[in-house]
Amino acid sequence: MAIISDDNQLGLGIKNKNPIIKAETIEYDNTFENSIRPKDFDSYIGQSALKETLKITLEAAKKRGKPLDHLLFYGPPGLGKTTIAGVIASQMGVEIRITSAPALERPRDIIGILMSLKGGEILFIDEIHRLNKVAEEILYPAMEDFTLDMTTGKSQTAKTLRIPLPKFTLIGATTKAGELSSPLRDRFGIIHRLEFYTIEELAQVVKRTAKILELEITEEGAEAIARRSRGTPRIANRLVKRVSDFAIVKYDGIIDKKVANESLDILKIDEFGLDTTDRALLNLIINKYDGGPVGIETIAAALSEDVRTIEDVCEPYLLQAGLLQRTPRGRKVSPEGYRHLGISMPSAQTKLFEDYL
Ligand code: ADE
Repeated sequence: MAIISDDNQLGLGIKNKNPIIKAETIEYDNTFENSIRPKDFDSYIGQSALKETLKITLEAAKKRGKPLDHLLFYGPPGLGKTTIAGVIASQMGVEIRITSAPALERPRDIIGILMSLKGGEILFIDEIHRLNKVAEEILYPAMEDFTLDMTTGKSQTAKTLRIPLPKFTLIGATTKAGELSSPLRDRFGIIHRLEFYTIEELAQVVKRTAKILELEITEEGAEAIARRSRGTPRIANRLVKRVSDFAIVKYDGIIDKKVANESLDILKIDEFGLDTTDRALLNLIINKYDGGPVGIETIAAALSEDVRTIEDVCEPYLLQAGLLQRTPRGRKVSPEGYRHLGISMPSAQTKLFEDYL
């Protein structure tokens, strides 16, 4: 399976102005993320419920000789939405085209990609919640009837041209399923949420990556990295590389528990996997807003971060780890969040928090 990509998520730093041409001409298969991406269900660790349903769906589609239903994957970034799409493509023996909604700015961007698809191929659209209205309207008949409805002429003389498209499968990925319009959401046959990974699963990801990169790592070293990876394999893989730099330069090259923990301490990633921004966020709410509630815009402005980064990158894990709480009036630091930072929670605050719960 060749991954033909036109976005820069694979770490290439290319901002593509013309996704159609780039999608046709560039094959990216040698980046770090790609080189360690699993290509089949056996080497894809975690998300076991998703894997089990997908295996059945794929087998049924193969037996029927029909393309797969359109699929929507949602969940926080880094949990393997692109990766599982790649696994599906390789298991079906078809090509995958990878793009993202912000690259489909003009109608001709999406039309060009749809018209260049071949039967059975997979079109992967990342950040699909950011698709504009025009692109969405083009996708509806494409998804439903495999046609492109083009209007020519103006008002009274306008004619609709129906151009048949090959049968393809759309895989959409989003961090914000709630922001998808319902007509678009309803056109996906399968909608699945990706879950954060357990420490054990992340330790397996770490060991697998270390093996591919020919790094020496102990069980305890892998677990130490896993513990600080915020339930996210993309972070685990990034930390393997960072820690291996330390192991080579400052130690004897072997990643054991001590090397992993000392390196991650230097990188200011704490035992919960929180980095300086996460801790700054919790500290800000505690010190400036008495623990909250405080609005997301205020938090973002005070940290000089954009709201999207806070919402998509920092918050999901802080919420899942129970350090932060989302309330109708804004964000609040939980008693666990206070404890994690070693700050005692004012007792009135504890009471209010418990009342709220
Ligand atoms: N690398 C990134 N995600 C992975 C996963 N789920 N399994 C194995 N390796 C991975």
